[in-house]
Amino acid sequence: MSNSQKHVAILGLETSCDETAAAVVVDGREVRSSVVASQTDLHAKYGGVVPEIASRAHIENIYPVIKEAMAQAGVGRDDINAVAIANQPGLTIALVVGVTAAKTLSFMWGKPLIAINHLHAHLQSALLGEAELELPAVALIVSGGHTCLYECDSPLDLTLLGATTDDAAGEAFDKVATILKLPYPGGPSIEKAARNGDPKAIDFPRSMLGRDSLDFSFSGIKTAVLYHCRGQDMKGDDRVDAMTEREIADIAASFQAAVVDVLVKKTRRAAEKVGARTVLLGGGVAANTALREALQASCEKGRPPRRLFVAPKRYCTDNAVMVASLAYHKYLAGQFAELTLEPSATG
Ligand code: KG4
Ligand code: ZN
Repeated sequence: MSNSQKHVAILGLETSCDETAAAVVVDGREVRSSVVASQTDLHAKYGGVVPEIASRAHIENIYPVIKEAMAQAGVGRDDINAVAIANQPGLTIALVVGVTAAKTLSFMWGKPLIAINHLHAHLQSALLGEAELELPAVALIVSGGHTCLYECDSPLDLTLLGATTDDAAGEAFDKVATILKLPYPGGPSIEKAARNGDPKAIDFPRSMLGRDSLDFSFSGIKTAVLYHCRGQDMKGDDRVDAMTEREIADIAASFQAAVVDVLVKKTRRAAEKVGARTVLLGGGVAANTALREALQASCEKGRPPRRLFVAPKRYCTDNAVMVASLAYHKYLAGQFAELTLEPSATG
């Protein structure tokens, strides 16, 4: 790649949970490479991410993944303007692998280091294909670890409006999939099962909290699914093994409809509160077609209608393109990190 001064090429790294990812993105939009080493198979038998296993796999994968991302992009160290790393939030012993790699490259290559908030990066993936962000905007980020509503004035200017008080939306999908004995990871399994089910079959609770609340709660619906499968006193036998495929599909579809309903209604509430012209959707659960379609319909019905910017499906779940893309804005703003940068579980 010829590195004319006009272009900014950033190597982004992501190791916050169970994907080891590296990407080279030019000027925040032009994706030159995106490599993701998924650890799904390693965690599947435990039904969830085991931090120690994730950390060890990141250590094994990080340099091959970086090498592959650089090779696919056709770039060398001299072509890279900065190294970006998602250093929060996430599993500390997973984050530290990427942070250490990024600091090492930044030091060795003499390139600035950029620290990225993983959740803010999820939001950036909704902006990848869009030129004009009409303000005000609200963003819904729905992942395995977080469920957040933000007011967004620019990719770097976010104000938290609400968040989950217990389980994250993706976590609820994962836990309900475990109850229904569907394969890990739960979100895609529930979505697949729900295709053959009736979303109105079971009236699962929709927790809206207070009338004006922009917070979320998903632990109640998870418990409702559990009671449905094991009886109110939890003493009944686990009926899941005896259920027909159709019964499982009905539970999956009804659960998904309830979660989507809450997410869409709360996002509309936030959009009305700030007078939003644009709604952004990102994070792993944003890959869910029922959610994408329901939010699109809600935005179209808004007064005035709102535009929905949604991350391309391949950039909904964890990846490094979103990290490198957001880092471009920090690069332009001169927001660089020190080599003393540490990971942080929260953020
Ligand atoms: O953003 P992400 O890759 O990782 C975190 O930052 O947590 O999100 C992973 C979450 C998991 O809980 C997974 O079950 C969920 O996103 N997910 C889905 C779908 N694809 C992934 N949830 C619902 N429907 C999907 N199609
Ligand atoms: Zn994520």
